[in-house]
Amino acid sequence: MPHIVGDRVYLREYLLSDVETLYQWRTLDEIVWWTGSYVWPESLEQARAFVEAQVNNVDPANRKFAICRREDDKYLGHIGYEYLDLRRQNTEVGIVIGDVTSLSKGLGEESLRLFLKVCFEELNLHRVGLRVIRPNKRGYRCYRKCGFKEEGALRDWHYSRGQWHDLILMGILRDEYMAASQA
Ligand SMILES: CC(C)(COP(=O)(O)OP(=O)(O)OC[C@H]1O[C@@H](n2cnc3c(N)ncnc32)[C@H](O)[C@@H]1OP(=O)(O)O)[C@@H](O)C(=O)NCCC(=O)NCCS
Repeated sequence: MPHIVGDRVYLREYLLSDVETLYQWRTLDEIVWWTGSYVWPESLEQARAFVEAQVNNVDPANRKFAICRREDDKYLGHIGYEYLDLRRQNTEVGIVIGDVTSLSKGLGEESLRLFLKVCFEELNLHRVGLRVIRPNKRGYRCYRKCGFKEEGALRDWHYSRGQWHDLILMGILRDEYMAASQA
């Protein structure tokens, strides 16, 4: 994927030099907890293995791309496919901004909009879905801003901090994306 450039961020392929930064994010509760059951690299070796897998494109259906800030090229997080299915023309998207100082500044929205452009305008997908745990109000709001609709919930899907949390299923269809981008 070539660089996909927005106003404040761009998406690029992973580089081996991203390993250290990714590894540092594993302990940040304000990031990690909100991702629900997402499995973070626990060791430097696991972080390296993750990044090498992205660099070598070993699993194109689950590939992630780095989110970088335009003004200084800082690597802020990643976004990518969760099970890209070109035959059924759908995928889920996973997104994480790991740089805590960059949360709630609209960068997630911008990154997701760039990614949706690739999904619908280049890959010709029909549907993009995502999942978010119910307490993640920030994520939910970001996805609603990008046009995702709530489609249902898996009740008590995730146990953490002494209680069960629902997993909300969201999605955006091609027609909805096209209508919103022409508005
Ligand atoms: C989810 C995530 C990608 C969103 O990106 P972001 O850049 O922080 O989000 P944005 O700034 O584009 O939008 C967040 C919105 O939620 C709002 N918000 C923030 N905290 C909130 C809260 N506690 N309750 C309700 N809304 C909240 C913000 O005000 C903003 O809405 P607005 O633009 O209408 O003011 C990012 O926060 C993140 O990576 N978080 C940690 C990991 C994570 O949750 N990953 C996603 C798992 S599904």
